[in-house]
Amino acid sequence: MCKSMFLAATALLFKIRVLTSNYKRFIVTSGEIPIRSYQVVVAATRDMGIGKDGKLPWRLPSDLKFFKEITSGTTDPVKQNAVLMGRKTWESIPIRYRPLPGRLNVVLTRSFEIKNEANVVTCGSISSALEMLAKAPYCFSIDKVFVIGGGQILRETLNGPRCDAIHVTRIETSVECDTFIPSIDFSMFQPWYSSPLLVENGIQYSFVTYVHVRNSEDGTIARKTDGKCNDVKSNSNGFEVENFSFLPKMIFEKRDKYMPHSRSIE
Ligand SMILES: NC(=O)c1ccc[n+]([C@@H]2O[C@H](COP(=O)([O-])OP(=O)(O)OC[C@H]3O[C@@H](n4cnc5c(N)ncnc54)[C@H](OP(=O)(O)O)[C@@H]3O)[C@@H](O)[C@H]2O)c1
Repeated sequence: MCKSMFLAATALLFKIRVLTSNYKRFIVTSGEIPIRSYQVVVAATRDMGIGKDGKLPWRLPSDLKFFKEITSGTTDPVKQNAVLMGRKTWESIPIRYRPLPGRLNVVLTRSFEIKNEANVVTCGSISSALEMLAKAPYCFSIDKVFVIGGGQILRETLNGPRCDAIHVTRIETSVECDTFIPSIDFSMFQPWYSSPLLVENGIQYSFVTYVHVRNSEDGTIARKTDGKCNDVKSNSNGFEVENFSFLPKMIFEKRDKYMPHSRSIE
């Protein structure tokens, strides 16, 4: 009896610790203002090409399936995730497929208005979108926030201090692109998972996830700003698996499988 109560209490404490660490990860404060952190999902060539003529430069149905799974899955069934995208990426989605179902579609634009669309909101800046998602009602209804492109948005968010993870479909085959994003900063991001090399429609690709490794245990104190690390209460081991339970379940559970073979994008 005592042993089972002790085990139940330990499990509860562990759960509270994980939930608290996730909350702190999701909603951090910038000065006095709460702001959401996010994960990036993108498919990119070796030289970080992501688009051509306003469209995706490749046809990879299995990548679209992966994108749908990773951006739709939630830990809490009553919540949904948010996908943040630039206005041009929104317009690149065929009308019959938008808004992306089961997710709050946040479209970034400085001039454009999308009227009368359920599950779509427009925001005039990335910071106002992340602030909006940290406030009621979204802080209660939105589980994870994914930044999904395109080039202009990713140039501002990839490698950002609030970027918790980058899920990149690495396109190995050479494909012509006209839209590019910066390289991943490997001084901040470390590989978590890498799939084996796959082939579809003559395109070689693999799925790779990088996580933002911060120095503090809860990820809220030692945060990189302007290339410097504010090392208050630092913990030398920032790479504790438990700290990354914010990752989509399908990625979190894969760590042990492929980690030793993962490769970095040069
Ligand atoms: N490979 C991938 O995973 C992937 C993913 C997504 C997209 N893509 C590709 O990327 C290309 C589109 O990228 P893009 O760079 O041309 O456009 P984009 O980033 O999708 O959208 C640019 C637009 O977003 C708005 N915007 C940009 N920065 C903003 C900010 N800080 N605050 C508020 N609004 C902001 C502006 O809209 P307004 O002009 O309305 O003000 C701007 O014109 C397409 O080829 C698409 O297929 C690829």
